[in-house]
Amino acid sequence: MKLFLNGKCYSIRDESFDPNQTLLDFIRHDCGLKGTKEGCASGDCGACTVISNNEKGGFETVNACISLLGSFAEKNIFTVEALDSSTKNNDSHQTISLKKNQLNAIQQSMVECHGSQCGFCTPGFVMSLTCLLENQKIYNEKKFDLDKTLDAISGNLCRCTGYKSILKAAEKAITEKLTHHNQNLIIESFPKEDALTSANKNYLIPRNEDELQKLLKDIPKPEIFAGGTDKTLKITQDFEEFISIIDISRIDSLKQILLIDDHIHIGPCVTYEQLEKNELLPLKFRKFIGQIGSTQIRNRGTVGGNIANASPIADLPPILLSWNAEIIIKDSSNKERMIPIKDFYKSYRVTSLAPNEYISNIKVPKESMEEHSSFFKISKRYEDDISTIMMAITLKLSNQKIIDSKLAFGGVAEIPIRATKTEAFLIDKRIDDLSFDDINSIIDSEINPISDVRGSKSYRKSMAKNLIKRAILEINGLKPTDVFKSNSIIFPLKKSPNAKN
Ligand code: FES
Ligand code: FES
Repeated sequence: MKLFLNGKCYSIRDESFDPNQTLLDFIRHDCGLKGTKEGCASGDCGACTVISNNEKGGFETVNACISLLGSFAEKNIFTVEALDSSTKNNDSHQTISLKKNQLNAIQQSMVECHGSQCGFCTPGFVMSLTCLLENQKIYNEKKFDLDKTLDAISGNLCRCTGYKSILKAAEKAITEKLTHHNQNLIIESFPKEDALTSANKNYLIPRNEDELQKLLKDIPKPEIFAGGTDKTLKITQDFEEFISIIDISRIDSLKQILLIDDHIHIGPCVTYEQLEKNELLPLKFRKFIGQIGSTQIRNRGTVGGNIANASPIADLPPILLSWNAEIIIKDSSNKERMIPIKDFYKSYRVTSLAPNEYISNIKVPKESMEEHSSFFKISKRYEDDISTIMMAITLKLSNQKIIDSKLAFGGVAEIPIRATKTEAFLIDKRIDDLSFDDINSIIDSEINPISDVRGSKSYRKSMAKNLIKRAILEINGLKPTDVFKSNSIIFPLKKSPNAKN
């Protein structure tokens, strides 16, 4: 396989290519570029942040520790060394604006604003902020935007400097440099005749569903990867080795969000970043996506991966359960079947997908997306963390009466579940005349979470009850702040006569 690293073309021979190798391992060990650090090796700290080119002609940040090298075949990668012209390759145009050993605008500003102490996190921050600056130049965005900047560094942890001075450095560099149009990073492209087929015989990159189906016929037990933000952990944390990987992330038909008749069709390779930006989807949902992972994770993590990995604490399944979504599955002969998401999960980490099948679409009734929905994710960190418990509820109302209800949880069972007894209880009740004592006792009887490092059984049960209460209060027009101000159930909702508080 071939890729450009810091503007220089690298060609990796088939016999020395390992489909399980991470991009970080390639950068640090094969190329000897040690500026990119390894902290957590699981996508949590951002020390390994590098920049890749994206399909829109811009740049995106990537966690090199949880990205497989093969997925960057014929792409561009930039590490922090690309920002130092002393490593400049004579054949490349990269870093054209820099003189030898000169820091780039972000690095210089980090020095001037005291944005670094131990420095371990610094290359990651510099790469995230450089990516933001370069994209702002490409898209002609002339102003420093605090929210965008916070978002850009949401996947970067610093444990000793403090974020104030890093933000100050970002503001200074971005404000000063947006008037300069010269790019620091130049994307190189491969000649057309070098049409990519695959990184290697064990890392296959089909370009369309026909090719994918052929591969599924030929390979008995392939591992399907898209962004790999979760599945790569099997390699880096559990030391598993996959023999054959099929990377479906470049199949255009699996990357679309379409409105067809009364349904929104979401392709399995749609990334969180695409979800966040797509106006066919409800604003509330798009805002929620910002709580999933970090910018680096959202650039690569996909809807299909989140569903098919069957984690009991995955973020999207509870929402899709509350929307009554259907999963469209295809096999190696292009035969299609449909299964409601509530029947998709069989047991812990087991789905109804056969080895020769793949998710080809996720179909969501548009009507469900337009009902009263609330989603809450409880995690130890607001962003860049997996959930302790996740709840999604969708209620259909007619004159304040609940005529349909879908309530789903992650983190309370071995698979994402619907709380069907509670759903049934809610039907035909008035939304402004509900007894939480009754709801709580039904929830108690129908969920049975485990205790683990993220939270005890009783904590998860209490949170499940609190989240339903919060959702119902919100649907009644009360703000979360009103909810937290009061210890008791708030007017106009009914209190059971026997309730103590
Ligand atoms: Fe921590 Fe990659 S090393 S995110
Ligand atoms: Fe030490 Fe950020 S400078 S962790």
